[in-house]
Amino acid sequence: MPKKQKRPEQSPSVTRSIDIARLVQQALPTRDLEVPKPLGSIEGGIYSLNVDVAGALKFARSLPGQTNHSRTHAAVQASDGAQSHSVKRAQGWYAEELRFTARVRSAAVIKAFMNVPRERFVGPGPWRIRSPMNMDEYWSTPNADPRHVYHDVLIALDEARGINNGQPSLWARIFDHLDIKAGEQVLHLGCGTGYYSAIAAELVGRTGRIRAVEIDAALAKMAQVALAPWPQITVSHADGAHVAFDPVDVVIASAGATHPLPSWLCGLRLGGRLLFPMTTAESLGDAELSTTKIALSAGGGPGGLLLVIRQAKDEFSARFLCRAGFIHFQGARDQDASRRLAAALVRDWGGSVRSLRRDRHTEDETCWLHGAGWCLSRRRPASAVSHSPSRQQREPVARIGTAVDLPRRDLRGR
Ligand SMILES: C[S@@+](CC[C@H](N)C(=O)[O-])C[C@H]1O[C@@H](n2cnc3c(N)ncnc32)[C@H](O)[C@@H]1O
Repeated sequence: MPKKQKRPEQSPSVTRSIDIARLVQQALPTRDLEVPKPLGSIEGGIYSLNVDVAGALKFARSLPGQTNHSRTHAAVQASDGAQSHSVKRAQGWYAEELRFTARVRSAAVIKAFMNVPRERFVGPGPWRIRSPMNMDEYWSTPNADPRHVYHDVLIALDEARGINNGQPSLWARIFDHLDIKAGEQVLHLGCGTGYYSAIAAELVGRTGRIRAVEIDAALAKMAQVALAPWPQITVSHADGAHVAFDPVDVVIASAGATHPLPSWLCGLRLGGRLLFPMTTAESLGDAELSTTKIALSAGGGPGGLLLVIRQAKDEFSARFLCRAGFIHFQGARDQDASRRLAAALVRDWGGSVRSLRRDRHTEDETCWLHGAGWCLSRRRPASAVSHSPSRQQREPVARIGTAVDLPRRDLRGR
């Protein structure tokens, strides 16, 4: 009996041309021609034609009964459609990749990364990139194709000052741990142009509130423009070290402080979370590490990301999530605290830290770093109940906190 012939698998190019045909068909009914957008332009950037667009143009030109005018219009619409489709696809892959690289468990966080268009927040391309494989220098993307921004890399916002849109996997991990829920109120200090404020806005939804604060006037203005589609966000051009605010569920500081500011701790509701990079300005004797090298060269420093949770009125649990290098948070730096933090970090990476104490006490062996009016302690807070039981079940505090288990990953958020 002759062997049954295997059906050839559909090649990707066939699938693509079907998509193109559908897109062009959708574009055909529109005949009123305003000035067409420049070919392949999205968010002010011009980028090269890709296969989808070239195919769409060819297909549109070949259609019977089309005037040149309407054919061109159809093709332009199809090209826009095909481009935004492929950008959306790149964004989907990017979010999916973050699920793995940052080990994100929250579906809401992945969805937020899938929904927020990063190209809105990083200025027109080509973009200047700092990638984990080579943190020694910036390099330029070959063109302004918006798909280039959907990678786990830092993108320069102000290269001369070392201000970047931070590494997505680091922030995906942070948002996963912050466990932000719909309807919550978030204070985001040092928002830059607002990309991660938008991610937070997706998590709190329309019933929540985000206040995004930025000390640099030009960046604050850019954030205000870029964040317009999220009515739940207000942007303030202000100093986050001195800004007054009503108690919130979450405080996020996106630049390095040597110590927790009292206003950040007092401003947390019960169950409220504070996340900030606790950084020194000193080298930690690991100068070859990019977190140290880059952060110091940009006038910042290395340290760890500290997550503090208000468990009761005067009780705060605390633990370091991972290492990170950040530029300095202006107004939240103290030279002595910086030196003492460096000494503590050289000793060990704070894996034993369990709480942040504000009560008056004499320094003893349970204090990992004893500061003025605050102490990072190895003692557990008496009423340590997680604000998120599901998270605690998945991730026992005892396992995470040990010095051995503390991730020594070389992440940067600058
Ligand atoms: C590392 S950048 C991060 C920008 C943004 N989060 C991102 O990833 O796209 C830190 C930002 O904090 C801002 N900043 C520093 N000190 C500040 C302060 N005291 N108040 C508000 N913003 C501050 C800087 O101007 C800078 O834009």
